[in-house]
Amino acid sequence: MKNEILNELKVKEITYDSEVPYELLLDADPSMQAIEKYLPFSDIYVADLREKTIAVLVLFPLENCTVEIKNIAVETSLQRNGIGRFMIEKAIEIATDKQFKTVLIGTSNSSLGQLYLYQKCGFEITRIRHNFFLDNYAEEIFENEIQCKHMIVLCKSI
Ligand code: ACO
Repeated sequence: MKNEILNELKVKEITYDSEVPYELLLDADPSMQAIEKYLPFSDIYVADLREKTIAVLVLFPLENCTVEIKNIAVETSLQRNGIGRFMIEKAIEIATDKQFKTVLIGTSNSSLGQLYLYQKCGFEITRIRHNFFLDNYAEEIFENEIQCKHMIVLCKSI
């Protein structure tokens, strides 16, 4: 099942003014305001499975040859099939081709599965932005019965 899906995935870049999968983006980042801040300045990739968009990846260039994975999401019914890992590997491949030296990703202290996945993909925790989600998000967010408060920043050298 896993490999069948991965073999059928077609990744393509889309433009900001085209059909952007907001539902997926909002699954990774509940603030439309935040999304609209970075989306126009990012490269947006989607993965299609049998003509349907089922995953998204947003790459935002920072200083010092670093690119940030601002948003990564897989359709709920297809999660845990290796697609997230596949999209992270795709991000690393794209970043390498574009001569970036570091890939950065930020997630919450409460996103336990995501922290596990990113570290399994070779990312290392480099910084904690204390109270980031309390200061920047209007609603309280809970995951795994833990309040989402701090942003854990992870980096991978390429
Ligand atoms: N809970 C526990 N473990 C997880 C989870 C989770 N939610 N997600 C991934 N993992 C771990 C598992 O160990 C998994 O391996 P296994 O299935 O063999 O046990 C491993 O990571 C690989 O997972 P994938 O199947 O490759 O990941 P998936 O396709 O589910 O995509 C993603 C991961 C993108 C995080 C997906 O769960 C998702 O879309 N979640 C909602 C949106 C989200 O939280 N996005 C990230 C926010 S941070 C940001 O965007 C910068």
